[in-house]
Parts: sequence; C-alpha cells; structure tokens
Amino acid sequence: MTAIWSVETAEFKKNAENVVDNNNIMAVVKNNAYHYGLNFAVEQFLKIGINTFSTTSLKEAIRIRQIAPEATIFLMNAVYDFDAVRDNEIHMTLPSLQYYYDYIDDLHDIHVHLEFENLLHRSGLKTVDEIKEVLQHHAQNKNTLKMHISGLWTHFGYADEFEVPDYDIEKAAWLEVVDTLLQDGYQFDMIHAQNSASYYREGYVLPHHTHARVGIALYGSRPYSTLDESMITQSLTVKGNVIQIREVQNGDYCGYSFAYEATKNNTKLAVVDVGYGDGILKSRAKHDALINGKRYPIRALMMSHMFVEVDSEVHAQDEVILYNNDIRVDEFTFKGVGANSEQLSAMNHDSLIKEYR
Ligand SMILES: Cc1ncc(COP(=O)(O)O)c(C=O)c1O
Repeated sequence: MTAIWSVETAEFKKNAENVVDNNNIMAVVKNNAYHYGLNFAVEQFLKIGINTFSTTSLKEAIRIRQIAPEATIFLMNAVYDFDAVRDNEIHMTLPSLQYYYDYIDDLHDIHVHLEFENLLHRSGLKTVDEIKEVLQHHAQNKNTLKMHISGLWTHFGYADEFEVPDYDIEKAAWLEVVDTLLQDGYQFDMIHAQNSASYYREGYVLPHHTHARVGIALYGSRPYSTLDESMITQSLTVKGNVIQIREVQNGDYCGYSFAYEATKNNTKLAVVDVGYGDGILKSRAKHDALINGKRYPIRALMMSHMFVEVDSEVHAQDEVILYNNDIRVDEFTFKGVGANSEQLSAMNHDSLIKEYR
C-alpha cells in the first residue's frame, strides 16, 4: 500500500475541451504544467486542438518545442540565451525599455510580444508611450537583422479578486492601450491578457484579443468560488490507505508534540499512509478526508502519516481520499488552504506513486 497521485486522462482531456469551448486558448504549462506533467499536458492539449503554449522557463519552452514542432510557444519571462530562443522559434516577452535598448542586436529574428506592466508591476513597458517608443524605434531601425514584433500582452493581477475594483481598473487601462495602438494603425499577430478568472468573468476572449492565456481551469480547478462546479472537472485523485485503526481515550495526546488531544473515550483514529512528506499541506490537514464516500476530520499530520478520526464503518486498507472531483482542490482554496496551484505544486511525485490512467 502506497499513497497514489493519479490522473484520469479522458477526464483531463474532456475538461480541457469544455474550457476551450471553441475559443482560442493559449495553454499555460509553466511549472511542469501545474505539476500535472509537461509532456502529458501538452500532448493532451494538442489532441484537442490547442497549439499555443506559454511558460516562464526556457528549459520548458524547449521541451515543448520537442513535443510540439509546429506549436507557437510564448516565453513569459525574458531570458538572455538568445540563440536558444531563436533556434527553437520561441516567442518571448519584451519586458522593459531598458531590455529593448540593451539587447536590440541580440534580439534579431526573435518574435517578441510587447508587455504592458499595468497593476501587477512584475514586468513590462510602463505606459502606452513606452510601447509606442519601441514600435517607432523599431520601425525606424534600418538594420535588416532585427527582432519581429509579433504580439502585445499583459497579465491581470486582480482578475481573481471580487471585493476590490482593481480588476476593472487594470482591464480598462489595458483596453485603452490596445485601442490606442490599434487606432494608431499598429497591428499585432497576437494579443493576449486573460487568465482563467478573467476568461470566465468575461465569458469570452476580450475584443481584438487573439487568445485567452489560461492555466488553472485547464487543470481542473475553479479560479473563483462563485463559478459553478459543473463548469470545471478535476481529473486528479490523491489518496492514501488506512494502515490500521487505533482507539484512544479522553485526554490522550496523539501525534508529535501533543498534535491532537482526544476529547472522548474510545475515539477511533485511522492511521493513514500519507503525510506532509508526500505534499499534503499543513493547512489542508485542518479539513476532512473522504473514506468510503463519507467525510472524516483529519486530526494530525506527520511526515508520512496522518490521523483521521473515524467511526466503526472504517477499516484497515480502506482508501483515504485527500483530493478527487468530490473533494476538490478548489474547495480548499476557497477555505483558505492555499492557492489551487500551491496545493498542486506541493505534491511529492517522488514519494507518491504517479499514475496516468
Ligand atoms: C503571466 C501569466 N499568464 C497566465 C497565467 C494563468 O493563470 P491561471 O492559472 O489563473 O489561469 C499565469 C499564472 O500564474 C501567469 O503568470
């Protein structure tokens, strides 16, 4: 018996198809495709017709090129290994005016997407005037070896927030930039801005945009809680097993350092073979696990074990589900456990058995 991380391939693919819903989607596959596996995810996305991918690491971008020779691959971080970017026909962000002037010669024959900084302040040209400066300087550059301006993009930092006006503010600022540039006669092969939350909030790909740049929805988690669960399906299961059932008495401390104190006699604790060493977050262990279709509270988390308080219906060798489509990652996101991607990224694929079914 070993704890298992498994993905139902048909479900994964079906969910991705539902998310795409005939729209043009750039699949975000960074961080090993949100830990679902880069090769697996890219292969499934290709099968349903997605042929545009983005990541933050050059290493991943090159791996995507090997899996998908015809795909458009967009690197969201600027890098300095210009030959590798060029040789692999990777599109890359243009992150600042300084970067443009410093590397203008190195960028020759690389497709860049001009990035607008907006409210996130992580990267990008600061104003529409800075964007125009690059466009004008580039147009006047007589050098035959120069970069290609193929795209315009931004990233919304507040699309997942509903209590504050900042998403509307950043969206309006961005749409103004897009409109101004298009009215001035500039053209871009690709314009993209929306993450999963923005894509679902708007219900479509924004006007003039060629793609929505979607991550977490493709991996089966809702970006915000008011989105109906039926819109997105989780194909991932993480489960352990009951090793044995122990009975403890009122006042007994269980687990390391007084982790849990039993509050009644004959409390039944299932000892389960999964713990934080497998990637179960401490904050996740404040909530329930699913055993034989019923939820039971986790009482203590250790490196390779956890205690779950159970009743007489639970026995040794029963499966203990931490995550599946009935006890979803996004449920715990909205309970404050951590971002969807944080819970997914924590999983230890070296200690869990990893299966694609
Ligand atoms: C620049 C950029 N675009 C798009 C995404 C996708 O966001 P989500 O997973 O919320 O769809 C991310 C994820 O962090 C990102 O950093």
